[in-house]
Amino acid sequence: MASEPKRGAVERRIADLRETIDQHNHCYYVLDSPEISDAEYDRLSRELIELEAAEPGLVTPDSPTQRIGAPPSDAFAPVEHRTRMMSLANADSQAELDAFFARVEKDLEETEIEYVCEPKMDGVAVAAIYEDGRYVRGATRGDGSVGEDITENIRTIRSLPLRLRIEAPGAVEVRGEAYIGIDEFKQINEERLDEGDTPFANPRNAAAGSLRQLDPKVAAARRLSTYLFALGQGGPAAFSTQWGALEWLKSAGLPVNPRSELVADSKQASAYCRRLRESRFGLPYQIDGVVIKVNRLDWQEALGATAKSPRWAIAYKFPPEEQTTTVIDIIAGVGRTGAVTPTAVMEPVVVAGVTVSRATLHNEDEVRRKDIRSGDKVVIRRAGDVIPEIVGPIVSERTGDEKEWSLPLECPECGARVVRPSGESVARCTNIACPKQIFERLVHFGSRGAMDIEGFGPAVAEHLLTSGRVRDVADIYSLSADDLEAIVPHFAKKENGKEPPKAAPKLARAIVASKKRPLEKVLFGLGIRHVGSGTAEILAAEFKEMDALAGADFERLQAIEEVGPKIAESIETFFQEQDNRRVIEKLRAAGVTMEAKAGPALAPTLAGPTWVFTGSLSGLSRAEAQSLVKERGGRAGSSVSAATDFVVAGSEAGGKLDKARKLGIKVLTEAEFVKMLDDKD
Ligand code: IVH
Repeated sequence: MASEPKRGAVERRIADLRETIDQHNHCYYVLDSPEISDAEYDRLSRELIELEAAEPGLVTPDSPTQRIGAPPSDAFAPVEHRTRMMSLANADSQAELDAFFARVEKDLEETEIEYVCEPKMDGVAVAAIYEDGRYVRGATRGDGSVGEDITENIRTIRSLPLRLRIEAPGAVEVRGEAYIGIDEFKQINEERLDEGDTPFANPRNAAAGSLRQLDPKVAAARRLSTYLFALGQGGPAAFSTQWGALEWLKSAGLPVNPRSELVADSKQASAYCRRLRESRFGLPYQIDGVVIKVNRLDWQEALGATAKSPRWAIAYKFPPEEQTTTVIDIIAGVGRTGAVTPTAVMEPVVVAGVTVSRATLHNEDEVRRKDIRSGDKVVIRRAGDVIPEIVGPIVSERTGDEKEWSLPLECPECGARVVRPSGESVARCTNIACPKQIFERLVHFGSRGAMDIEGFGPAVAEHLLTSGRVRDVADIYSLSADDLEAIVPHFAKKENGKEPPKAAPKLARAIVASKKRPLEKVLFGLGIRHVGSGTAEILAAEFKEMDALAGADFERLQAIEEVGPKIAESIETFFQEQDNRRVIEKLRAAGVTMEAKAGPALAPTLAGPTWVFTGSLSGLSRAEAQSLVKERGGRAGSSVSAATDFVVAGSEAGGKLDKARKLGIKVLTEAEFVKMLDDKD
């Protein structure tokens, strides 16, 4: 136990850290505008974890360290809602929507009625209760009167503050929708497939499944989000409209959908519906309509409710995005882990604005379960921006000529045996030297989420492999621009060409630039089974260097909270493989990052100044350049002002460069900028 004065100092530091971390969580998750680098955030979190570990008596349930602290439970206790959580009446067409507006106008005897329009999030309804500003309980809607106590799972939602940002005495219940974003949904499904689990059919099922996890650790790994749109029992009487309620929620630091709008009348509400219907596929989450609410609370009260739903609100549902087409063939493809996956090739059809001609059928069991045959007429759906999916065959239209699919016994790419271990749903090609697996691993290494080598796609990878110059991912670092030009036919100089070729030197520069990617990207790029980008981040933060990870045994790996036996075994096996170790040594020799960088300390001279990038850079994207600065503690601005310290000008730099010169700001070329980073690292 620390001495009293020291304990007092620790207590103050803990309070300070909690406040700072809460503030940065708010900037990152609610305002979508981070103010510090990830590394700096990690440093603050680690300091808090260490201080709390030394002084367990000071840990409180609202500390940001406690999001995944709770042990798994056996079942969820029932929670009675003080006021019913109602559902909404639906309008499936403009005519039904018009009927709603007409009824509201008639009942209120008013024609000028303001409405609040909100995206109808396709997730799971939840309620969170705060007492004296502290999060104490979370529940599902259940049947509206009694829900399930999912306090610990809701606590894992990063955008939900554990302490409100304003004074709120007593109990305040806030209500909203918990959901899983489309990127997270895709990632979860990839991981499930990789582990032989059946993928979730849609983000809503993924959210529901995650919230009902008995182990909060599992829920935490699913990265749920939430938007709130109502207050339940209690709460301040500080507003008299729905819009006021949203403003109050925002001021309390709670996440409110920024696409919500206050409109002047029913015409504008209909226009909002049309706009959102058009733009909904660009959203990072799935919505299934628009919720329209009478703005004034006294009018809401006057309109009242039926047994099930309020009479002052309606859910306008978008028409389903389904189409029919014909399956031409079912083919088996091989992925980088050797997984043999059936894909339906279909007559091209436009679904939700995109032409679709292929849909994954995931695995053998899925094909059987849905009974999809080659030649079948099928219903296909593309819900949101989510991968197209075959809903099922139209059995009544079968002619008898349809062909059932069976898993090939041999790899369609290399002819090796295909094995499906008992109890698993994934079948795999057994040849680790299968050329298709090597190809997919190479493409994965260069992909956006991994080493992010611009211009390094499947076509280039294919040529590099057939040339024999590249046998593993490390070989790409031995290629010069001239090599690339010689190997990749479409990079070759034009015979008569005066026009200088650009693609090969550009790719060569991008390959060199990728050596500076952080350790987690390298780890993810290696394609270790079960190590997705999230796990790679955790491993990089934990081990700090490749060698430490490579030397970690099963026990050490499993000691990490987020690493289970499957992942631990896979990592251990990967590093035991001689060939894998050899590739890592080659990467190290080429100068690829093998150590995690420790935040701003890495280049203190970049901490402080503001950088602006202008014009087009050749070896880096602007976002990459900005994150290189931020990783080193610098600031990246978008416009030039007296507060700008450096401007990096690429080709065709325009107004910003002129302004920088006028203000006497130091201007660097891209090469000077890269050299400066290299010198300092
Ligand atoms: S208001 C009394 N607003 O849709 C009104 N609901 O069918 C309560 N939902 O259970 C709901 N987005 O889970 C409201 N912006 C939004 C919503 C929304 C999604 C869900 C909610 C509710 C269901 C109603």
